[in-house]
Amino acid sequence: MAETGTDIHKAANFLEKGELVAIPTETVYGLAANAFDEDAVLKIFETKKRPAFDPLIVHTHALSEFQRLCSSIPDMAWQLAERFMPGPLTLILPRSENIPLIVTSGLDTVGIRIPDHPLTLELLRTIGFPLAAPSANPFGYVSPTTSAHVEAQLGTEIPYILNGGPCRVGLESTIIYVRERTVEVLRPGGLEISAIEEVIGKKADRIHTSGSNPKAPGMLSSHYAPRKKLILGNISANLEKHGPDSCAVLSFSKPVTGIAEEMQVQLSVREDLHEAARNLFAALRKLDELPVTYILAEKVPETGLGLAINDRLERASA
Ligand code: TXA
Ligand code: MG
Repeated sequence: MAETGTDIHKAANFLEKGELVAIPTETVYGLAANAFDEDAVLKIFETKKRPAFDPLIVHTHALSEFQRLCSSIPDMAWQLAERFMPGPLTLILPRSENIPLIVTSGLDTVGIRIPDHPLTLELLRTIGFPLAAPSANPFGYVSPTTSAHVEAQLGTEIPYILNGGPCRVGLESTIIYVRERTVEVLRPGGLEISAIEEVIGKKADRIHTSGSNPKAPGMLSSHYAPRKKLILGNISANLEKHGPDSCAVLSFSKPVTGIAEEMQVQLSVREDLHEAARNLFAALRKLDELPVTYILAEKVPETGLGLAINDRLERASA
């Protein structure tokens, strides 16, 4: 049974022994292991039941650590790192030989991120090695945004959950692949793409990934999914079709008529996309627990963080 607490030294101890620890970040909770320890990293894949072709992000605490994690950094990537790290951004960079291939699923690139959470930054400084960490959920399920979410699903499999409270952003990091002349968005996430484009001074290419696209092997079209069937579209029309008894509702800001209040969640009554992002995964988990067959959801406005929210809703419904 996992112990949950805020003891950085305890967390450090487990990690040094090659054990897994759940860590808080500003985006979602991660399931962390010493990125230099192949056996520890293997435990991540086993615990999550994650396919070996899906590479992990490496977490560190400072830009000065990049030299031992990647072999070079394009200028534009460095500009993004200086501007947005720590923060909800992952950069795909050429892999340093220090990073075991199990971390990158054999790719010659590595995803690197500096999480913006005081406990985890202190932990990273204490241990002195980087942490490989995917989101701390069973493969394909909704990412955890509280320590209780982690406990509910992985509590029996790991020794320690570092409790940093609810995640401030609530959506996974934006993943960007910068090469000499191109900037590609592999996954929209907690950092708005417009902010990235402002720094690089041009449009970023949006890559539509799937299970067969080797650029982001983990961006399967069905992912981030509750167990209930999620139907994305016009909620009222779908409610009429399936009937209120078999449905729960996830709307953006307004309650839907024709179904009980306790079967509904609004992502943000004041139509704030940051609040909606923060609430999304907890809402999906809550509705997934209700005795219904379907979760009816609608898209949010496709601006700012709305892009990433809609991306998750689409994958959840695939
Ligand atoms: O916010 C986040 O990014 C969270 C927190 C814990 O840091 N982590 C996270 O990890 O969402 P995960 O494993 O659930 O998603 C990482 C994604 C995967 O889809 C994977 O395919 C992609 O990053 N990825 C990692 N390394 C890559 C690489 N070298 N090239 C392309 N995609 C990569
Ligand atoms: Mg994940």
